[in-house]
Amino acid sequence: MVLDGRLCYGGDYNPEQWPAEVWKQDVELMRQARVTLVTVGVFAWSRLEPAPGRYTFDWLDQVLDLLHAGGIRVALATPTASPPPWFSLAHPDALPVTADGVRLHHGSRDTYCAAAPAYRAAARRITGLLAERYADHPALALWHVHNEYGTTCHCHHAEAGFRRWLRDRYRDLDALNDAWTTSFWSQHHSDWAQVSTPRATQYLPNPGQVLDFRRYWSDELLAAYVEQRNLLRAATPGVPVTTNYVLGDWVPVDHARWAAEVDLVAIDHYPSDAGPAAEEQIALAADLARGWARHGARHHARATDGDLPGARGSWLLMESAPNLIYTPGRMHTREPGRMARHSLAYVARGSRGAMFFQWRAPRGGAELFHSALVPHAGPDSRIFREAVELGGMLDRLAEVDAGVVEAPVAIAWDAASGWALQQRALPSDRIHHHTEVAVAHRALRRAGYACDPVLPGDPLTGYALLVLPALYLADDDTAAWVRDHVHGGGHVVIGYLSGVADEHARIRLGGYPGAYRDVLGVRVEEFHLLADGEEVPLTGGGTGRFWAETVRVAGAEPVDAYAAGVLAGQPAVTRHRYGDGVAWYVSTRPDEGTYQRLLDEAARAAGASPTCPDAPPGVEAVRRRSPEASWLFLLNHTASAQRVPTAGIDLLTGAVVEDAVTLPAGGVAVVRERAGA
Ligand code: GAL
Repeated sequence: MVLDGRLCYGGDYNPEQWPAEVWKQDVELMRQARVTLVTVGVFAWSRLEPAPGRYTFDWLDQVLDLLHAGGIRVALATPTASPPPWFSLAHPDALPVTADGVRLHHGSRDTYCAAAPAYRAAARRITGLLAERYADHPALALWHVHNEYGTTCHCHHAEAGFRRWLRDRYRDLDALNDAWTTSFWSQHHSDWAQVSTPRATQYLPNPGQVLDFRRYWSDELLAAYVEQRNLLRAATPGVPVTTNYVLGDWVPVDHARWAAEVDLVAIDHYPSDAGPAAEEQIALAADLARGWARHGARHHARATDGDLPGARGSWLLMESAPNLIYTPGRMHTREPGRMARHSLAYVARGSRGAMFFQWRAPRGGAELFHSALVPHAGPDSRIFREAVELGGMLDRLAEVDAGVVEAPVAIAWDAASGWALQQRALPSDRIHHHTEVAVAHRALRRAGYACDPVLPGDPLTGYALLVLPALYLADDDTAAWVRDHVHGGGHVVIGYLSGVADEHARIRLGGYPGAYRDVLGVRVEEFHLLADGEEVPLTGGGTGRFWAETVRVAGAEPVDAYAAGVLAGQPAVTRHRYGDGVAWYVSTRPDEGTYQRLLDEAARAAGASPTCPDAPPGVEAVRRRSPEASWLFLLNHTASAQRVPTAGIDLLTGAVVEDAVTLPAGGVAVVRERAGA
């Protein structure tokens, strides 16, 4: 446990932005809100080392002592996401360079190249000092390395690192030339010195080079993290170490791979919408975090030490916004009540608590209007009152930390497939792996199924159904993973653009989807791209969008067909018995209702059932279960009261639930279910 039996509640605390008088008031307010954990020091480097080698830890000593006296634990951060101005001046070669060759300057945060030796050395130095000084501090509960690894660089350090990484992967240049298909457009390399990072270039870049650069850069950032983690682990073997993941398609980090190196997966999550779309985004982000945690735990160095929380799918929401959410053009308000309901939605899906950015709204600086638990208005405010209320709720929910989220469906997620489908000159720039995962996840969620994201190769025992949404890349092992699963009796739904390319983003020939033709009993000859807004009717009554294909059946039975256009009469959805299992193929993006019904049918046929079949539409139901108990989270996202049949004790109110709970509009219940429920 991170916090000895309590859920994590709090957020980024930046005392360096305030005079010491405010610190005491902060601790008082934290106690009032039942805060259990705060992240300290994330961007404090210039306050800890104002000049090279001159250290001023005294203020941090005082802050940690004050927090400890107030019973609040600390996630102590290394400040390496924001080197001080003196560092950049002394080491201009450590400033980042864009793909256009522009060197960025100090003035924001993250102005460093993670591959620059001077930066890495400085980061190790300040981390080592923090580790040494605070190893025995009683407030220390968790190490928080850096902040949101996610910057990229094309400087000569990055280029040298890329070449080293490529030599390691390919050994000789011929293998690299082959993987990158450099026979196309005269790109054959005859010396390693010719190999560069994918900088701005005249026309379309080489897809293999772009993909490998993203893989390399994720590994380079990971190496920077691991250096710090090792120093911290050596100083405090018993204190877990993490870093907060930033989510987004632009992020050059393979979070699943990183999960084996953190002791607790932690994500920051800022939905791009304040309303119902936020609820879908929250569910997906939370499920991804859980999937990464489980995947990571299997490969973790401490995997043999017994029960790692990650193996149970535990992770932590490290940052979220209490109120205003940044959306393009203007910020959006989180309506009253949403902060609690949304926070509990993460906890329902495995988070060990709810943390926010940030504790107290700053009076200046780049993010001066970002929402905070103590807003500019001060504690006499709706937001702070909601913060106090949320603290009380989390206090009553501590026992759910023992529960594992029940999910009968697995959904494949793969960073590299996402990166490969971001390349230019693909048949459609509307189709991305992550979007397709989100669409399938939404359909499953609406049909009432919880699902666990899995990575190719992960064990599939216990999952009734596996869904592959545009899992574009498939090496031979991935193809065998799916084949063996279905042959052995598993059920799978495979979406278009899955298994089309190999691990180097080269097409698997002979008809799409090369990796899964045999399992699916189909052979796709051609793609037919639909215009934005265009729909093709399906004979089953729904429509297809964005994408359609010429599907030739080779053993599969058609389940739905195109009803008009060039594909009229040809299969759109097929089903194939393969070995003891069943493989569905979906060659278009069905409209939401059709997709939901299709996945529901596939899941039921595979033996799965929704979490709470009687939950009315708009009420999200998620169950966590331990060997001793089960907890049903019910989140009413609608504007009216809803009744859900269940029995047990509502932990939030303490009320005994005889046969049904009535949730007020926007309300939440967490029912410890009566045994046998
Ligand atoms: C996060 C970041 C925080 C803050 C926040 C604003 O991505 O870690 O430092 O910038 O976004 O939403």
